Amino acid sequence: MSSIEKYIDKLDKQAAVPVVDRASISDDAAYSAEPIQSLGGQVDQYANKSKTVQVDLDKLARIGALIPTDKTSKIVEEYRAIKRPLIKKAFNSSAIDLPNSNVIMVTSTTPEEGKTFNAICLAMSIVMEMDYTVLLIEADLARPAIIKYMGIEGIDKGLVDYLLEDETNMANLIFRTNIPKLSILAAGQRHAGATELISSDRMKNFIQELAQRYSDRIVIIDSPPLLMSNDAIILSGLAGQVVLIVESGKTGQFAVKEAIEKLDENRITGVILNKHLGGSGNDYGYYNKNEL
Ligand SMILES: Nc1ncnc2c1ncn2[C@@H]1O[C@H](COP(=O)(O)OP(=O)(O)OP(=O)(O)O)[C@@H](O)[C@H]1O
Ligand SMILES: [Mg+2]
Repeated sequence: MSSIEKYIDKLDKQAAVPVVDRASISDDAAYSAEPIQSLGGQVDQYANKSKTVQVDLDKLARIGALIPTDKTSKIVEEYRAIKRPLIKKAFNSSAIDLPNSNVIMVTSTTPEEGKTFNAICLAMSIVMEMDYTVLLIEADLARPAIIKYMGIEGIDKGLVDYLLEDETNMANLIFRTNIPKLSILAAGQRHAGATELISSDRMKNFIQELAQRYSDRIVIIDSPPLLMSNDAIILSGLAGQVVLIVESGKTGQFAVKEAIEKLDENRITGVILNKHLGGSGNDYGYYNKNEL
């Protein structure tokens, strides 16, 4: 069995993230919120010291994303299983062949499969662990959405500004949030030459610096889809781990095969079946006979 088939075969054994419908969760369950501060832990020393931006947890909850004060919903459970192998690989000292193993890129084959949603959920789930800080990077420069989904206001610069050398002080670009241990790097200003910026040495050095600066930090990169532009392929070479989001009932087998072929097999740590409605593995669009 080829390595690609192995991954495809493994798909129904990976964690599946359901379609989260917050309307079906009572307000009490969703917001039995202990104060965020009680999550404790270190703040990101690297981030902007003077300014903390506010993540709108209500807004996140409304779109069904995982929020760190929610200990009860199904997505919290799902993410416990999803994050374990990622954290383990991130800090596995024997992973000498895996540079930047604490840098996790979230991607998919085609648009709108749930990359941004799952990148946010993964970040939230990891900051709920005692020991880790998370830096969430909005690196889908054509369709940035993290800041919008999280309802964050007051960030006007980001990755593009750094790559263009319009802002060279990282501390002015990385923001602490009201969620302890979670910091954010936004996409920043719009720029037509995104691919050139992403493929630059400056980008490579930046990611390395972010990865190595703090030993307890996990960097999560929300990225473009693999089959739409080169940016995601380039980014995948900078990240030590890649998580592939596959939309249940939508993503075709050939598309997934094509995407996986573009990646370094050693870096693919997880395949998440997103918007899963339940049922056996054979119900997945992934196994759609029409595409075979
Ligand atoms: N498991 C889920 N449950 C409920 N809604 C979801 C789930 N996953 C994604 N969504 C919703 O689906 C839509 C698309 O998700 P998202 O924006 O994360 O996709 P994307 O792959 O990042 O898209 P793009 O290619 O445009 O960047 C959003 O409205 C998001 O809130
Ligand atoms: Mg997105």
